[in-house]
Amino acid sequence: MRELGIIEDGAVLVAEGKIVAVGTTDEVAKHQSLTSKPAHVKEIDCRGKAVLPGFVDSHTHPVFTAPRLIDFEKRITGASYEEIAEAGGGIHSSLRGVRDATCSKLAEHVRKALDEMALQGTTTVEAKSGYGLSFAAEMKSLEAIREASHQWAGTVIPTLLGAHVVAPEYRDDPEQYLGIICEDMIPAAAKLRLAAFVDVFCERGAFTMEQSVRILHRASDNNLGVRAHVCQLTPAKLAPLVEFHPASLDHLDFVSDEDISVLAKLDTVATLLPAANYFLGLETFPPARRLIDSGVPVALATDYNPGTAPTPSMTLVMSVACTHMKMSPAEAIVAATYNGACALHLRDRKGSLEPGKDADIAIFEALDYRELAYWFGTNRCRETLLKGVHQTGAQISR
Ligand code: NIG
Ligand code: FE
Repeated sequence: MRELGIIEDGAVLVAEGKIVAVGTTDEVAKHQSLTSKPAHVKEIDCRGKAVLPGFVDSHTHPVFTAPRLIDFEKRITGASYEEIAEAGGGIHSSLRGVRDATCSKLAEHVRKALDEMALQGTTTVEAKSGYGLSFAAEMKSLEAIREASHQWAGTVIPTLLGAHVVAPEYRDDPEQYLGIICEDMIPAAAKLRLAAFVDVFCERGAFTMEQSVRILHRASDNNLGVRAHVCQLTPAKLAPLVEFHPASLDHLDFVSDEDISVLAKLDTVATLLPAANYFLGLETFPPARRLIDSGVPVALATDYNPGTAPTPSMTLVMSVACTHMKMSPAEAIVAATYNGACALHLRDRKGSLEPGKDADIAIFEALDYRELAYWFGTNRCRETLLKGVHQTGAQISR
């Protein structure tokens, strides 16, 4: 995670949405497609800038309609995330807006979030449903993700998170809600190809380990990938989840040393989401050092959502990872790009600047890569290429 492969005075040659060549400017200038047909080439001058693979934000919840300002104020006056949720706030308070909205209205919210992410250097986004909590509203949320992804030049990986919390109607009968997830939502999402992954919030107040296992079982039966939110607020043993070869396990604030040794032997990525810790005002942060030093692949993502992480900024997350989790700036870049791609099973296409990969490129106002995680509260991304489609801030409609 410390090896960035930096090329000084570098150049990237792109054609038809793919990277064709990467090297020094002199090396790339000799490429045969440049020597034979130079008139067709558009040049983007990156002198004095840092050029990176676009960020892969591998964990977001963009299907919601409004910020949660009451929760925000309650927390400031001392209530915890769990206390607010028990009092009817939290995830449940985002539900009405999603159930009442049309699919195209939801898609508009998602598209605006994607545009904002692209402006800040993100070119691939994993997007979860999870604020509808009924068969119809979860399917509508996934359709909204699909509609928004068709309007965006970047890449969106959709995830079904019907198992975010038990829907309020089934508060006294969670089994019935579990039945809807397992028998209705998962098969429909698979059949209609609306989701690549199924996620579950395995946590006190959400789903038990036993329930989570049943949900992931059903996902595997339907040939969907699996991932899970786990150990965010309380410790849990990961063994039952690891059985499913999850692409990633996310949060992991309370992961044990024993489970870290198990993860070190697997391909499962540990996706850390410190913007949530920051926004909830917590004093502790995910244990990046213990994980990385034990050999676990670590990704960073925003967790973009209205309750715990209302930020589209991967560089903010990288800043928090460096200042509060003691990741190095190089590790933060790898975690936000290549390891994020691994967490979505996209490492053949995304996450690094290599010939044959998608031309997902972010251009930053920076003379040194360490500046990416150094400046915060500002956006130094000047241009992005999303599968070769060039965007500057001014071109993105608001
Ligand atoms: O990742 N942990 C569960 N899901 C989100 C929070 C969702 C919400 O509060 O709206 C998270 O932090
Ligand atoms: Fe989340």
